[in-house]
Amino acid sequence: MFHSRFLLLCFYLLYFCAAFRVNATSPPRNAKSSDNLHHIDSPEHNAGSTGYRGRSTEGLEGFEPGDVAPAFKVQTLNGVFQYSPQNDSRSALIVHAFTNKSAFLECLWTWNESLSDLLKYLPANTEVLLLSLDDTAQQDALWMKEQVYTAAAHGGKEILSRLHFSPIPVFALGNWLPRVLYSWGCGGHNCGLAQVLFSSPDWSAPVIAKRLNARYDWLNGRWGADPYRLLDAGDGCKPVASVKGAVAWVSEGGCSFFTKIKTMAESNATGVLVYALPGHPIQDMNCLGDDCSTSINIPASMVHIEPSVMEALRKGNPVNVTIQVTPSPNFFFAINQKGALSEMGWFLYPSFRFMAWQAQWFIFNEALQEHLSQPAVIVPVFDRHLMQGETGAQAVVDLPEDFMDYDILELDASLSCPGRRDETCAHWDHTVQLYVCCDRTSPYCNLELGRWITAFRRGTGHWLTDVSPLIPLLNDKKCVFTMKTVPWAMPWMTSLQLRFSHSNQTGNYSDRLYPFKVMSLFPGGTFDKDYNSRYQEIKFTLPASTKKVELYAVITAHGSDENFCGEFCVTSHHFLINRSINNTLVFETAGSPLGCAMRVFEGAVPNEHGTWLYGRGGWCDGLQVDPWRTDITSQLDMSGTNSVLYFGLFEGRNPDPKTNPGYIIMYSSLVFYK
Ligand SMILES: *[C@@H]1O[C@H](CO)[C@@H](O)[C@H](O)[C@H]1NC(C)=O
Ligand SMILES: *[C@@H]1O[C@H](CO)[C@@H](O)[C@H](O)[C@H]1NC(C)=O
Ligand SMILES: *[C@@H]1O[C@H](CO)[C@@H](O)[C@H](O)[C@H]1NC(C)=O
Ligand SMILES: *[C@@H]1O[C@H](CO)[C@@H](O)[C@H](O)[C@H]1NC(C)=O
Ligand SMILES: *[C@@H]1O[C@H](CO)[C@@H](O)[C@H](O)[C@H]1NC(C)=O
Ligand SMILES: *[C@@H]1O[C@H](CO)[C@@H](O)[C@H](O)[C@H]1NC(C)=O
Ligand SMILES: *[C@@H]1O[C@H](CO)[C@@H](O)[C@H](O)[C@H]1NC(C)=O
Ligand SMILES: *[C@@H]1O[C@H](CO)[C@@H](O)[C@H](O)[C@H]1NC(C)=O
Ligand SMILES: *[C@@H]1O[C@H](CO)[C@@H](O)[C@H](O)[C@H]1NC(C)=O
Ligand SMILES: *[C@@H]1O[C@H](CO)[C@@H](O)[C@H](O)[C@H]1NC(C)=O
Repeated sequence: MFHSRFLLLCFYLLYFCAAFRVNATSPPRNAKSSDNLHHIDSPEHNAGSTGYRGRSTEGLEGFEPGDVAPAFKVQTLNGVFQYSPQNDSRSALIVHAFTNKSAFLECLWTWNESLSDLLKYLPANTEVLLLSLDDTAQQDALWMKEQVYTAAAHGGKEILSRLHFSPIPVFALGNWLPRVLYSWGCGGHNCGLAQVLFSSPDWSAPVIAKRLNARYDWLNGRWGADPYRLLDAGDGCKPVASVKGAVAWVSEGGCSFFTKIKTMAESNATGVLVYALPGHPIQDMNCLGDDCSTSINIPASMVHIEPSVMEALRKGNPVNVTIQVTPSPNFFFAINQKGALSEMGWFLYPSFRFMAWQAQWFIFNEALQEHLSQPAVIVPVFDRHLMQGETGAQAVVDLPEDFMDYDILELDASLSCPGRRDETCAHWDHTVQLYVCCDRTSPYCNLELGRWITAFRRGTGHWLTDVSPLIPLLNDKKCVFTMKTVPWAMPWMTSLQLRFSHSNQTGNYSDRLYPFKVMSLFPGGTFDKDYNSRYQEIKFTLPASTKKVELYAVITAHGSDENFCGEFCVTSHHFLINRSINNTLVFETAGSPLGCAMRVFEGAVPNEHGTWLYGRGGWCDGLQVDPWRTDITSQLDMSGTNSVLYFGLFEGRNPDPKTNPGYIIMYSSLVFYK
């Protein structure tokens, strides 16, 4: 099922659609770099991070992401928690500083699903230190503990020994932790104090209350900076003509959040403030099921009931409301298993699931580091090389004498940012392609060797991609490597090493097969009704001494037609051999709510500053595109003529978009082994 939230992403957040036109000749509307954030998030999300272009983004010496965390001690409810850098068998440690001044954190700690996600998904080797920023730290620690213990009553008790609750407020810790919390910039959803300011002529001072916006990817409306008139609209379940042009003040309950906000939008309200009834927590307002396909164009937030506001409205006194954000310390940071300080990224909505995703990524990264420490012949290509503009990043590299003896070639790639903080990272998701040219006269010159998709504003991506079948592309001793993204993208710093190794260190070398020839097949193109008529069957015979033939394809689907194709629709890609055998790749999770979040264990960068969670057509934000490899030897006539034809379908049918067709980026080949 398709959700209006994808539409919203196109027209309002502009994270994908326009931003993803790899073959466009001019930058999309949103390609103006950080100014867009004001457009997207104004006024709430830039309060903590405005002006960072002109300001130094580095904080106090020795406390940047990647720095080694010094030892510290913290008093907890159960004795002293001690952290020591000299510990080789360490878990990752997440530090969270709570404050009830944040509606986001109030919801994080009261929403049962958030708490059950903590119990269900926090990986085993992760510890969490829970602090409070406020004078009430003692009560807060007891309360947080009670929240977790209550949730754990239904199971998940195992986690409790790994949660450490401190009764000492952050401002009294006497160690370096406050320095990180206070100095690390934060302009995302999970820090900064989102607030509403109420004013009325009779009051001597305004009333300021915490606020939680409706789910980020649901409503199309955004709050402006000017004051709004606030008018009572009961429970908001029935139309109220008088709220036209004003913000509707509605109570929770009586109908769903969706019904309230939709009804108020139809009453021509400019926004909605839903208040929690006395004693009830602020909730994460979201749509459910089919409701999500209705797009609503006004903003909405949830707040607590405010007696002075109730009274003023009851008396018929005017009440105005202004939306504001007060910057706050960071609420989260982490120390990974290697003892390095790490940012935790953006929590798109108030759920501990985001904490778990970051911890899962630490585990992925540990395994990756372990793999990278295995023996291999390493050829450095880029080392934090600037990748920007038409030329991208380029390097001329001498290959080792004996690289053809190896049957495994892996790309060890990472993308980091100009500064050490995520706030210095490029904002949008774009394809990154790596091309190689060794023998300039060869048809292999400048074929694609690897593909990745950049993360939304996070500089931690590190990926290993096995591209062994493409070893024949390295057909000379000196090769030019070019890594590019769209020319208008903000800069990334790229690092790349080639890793040559043997598939089986202990095995019988003479059993190994080596790729010796690559035959290019079909490219991608515009995914419209003519998509398939552009392809023609290719006939081929196998080169002498071929022992194995592999189909190798790198396919990603982009753009957004009325069916959200190709990024968020299910497309299938078929290579028909000898007119009789289909080899099929289906992008089944495209458009699913957590399709990419489920791939954090495979290296998808978590907690990006965008909707990285959704499944996509053959790719995820902040992840390599895995080559699709199929051994088709048994499908072929080894001595005669064979044929291959490609076609691509949308939900099993020929694509037939009415508007704005998407497109497929594809490199496909046959690889011959001997
Ligand atoms: C990009 O667009 C141009 C002009 O429309 C076209 O000639 C070219 O083949 C396209 N390139 C790719 C890689 O699709
Ligand atoms: C090392 O870390 C483990 C797991 O975090 C912990 O149980 C142990 O006490 C630590 N040892 C020292 C010496 O700090
Ligand atoms: C947090 O604040 C809300 C309203 O401001 C209050 O009802 C709730 O009891 C507070 N929770 C804690 C743990 O202080
Ligand atoms: C959370 O509470 C709601 C309402 O009480 C209930 O329907 C839901 O099953 C609970 N969810 C979990 C994960 O406990
Ligand atoms: C209250 O809001 C209305 C509507 O935006 C505006 O016209 C008016 O000037 C505001 N009043 C005050 C005192 O800010
Ligand atoms: C909202 O505005 C539209 C267009 O101006 C109008 O047709 C409609 O009657 C209004 N709705 C209400 C409930 O006032
Ligand atoms: C490696 O080769 C040995 C000996 O040929 C064989 O027993 C073993 O299964 C192989 N391992 C893998 C991972 O292929
Ligand atoms: C390796 O394989 C070849 C051919 O398959 C065989 O002749 C040779 O004896 C094998 N060597 C070892 C050490 O197994
Ligand atoms: C190949 O797959 C397509 C699409 O599912 C189907 O229409 C076609 O009949 C299949 N061909 C063969 C030979 O299986
Ligand atoms: C593949 O097709 C060719 C003719 O195009 C035929 O001679 C051959 O037998 C076919 N091979 C298989 C395995 O079906």
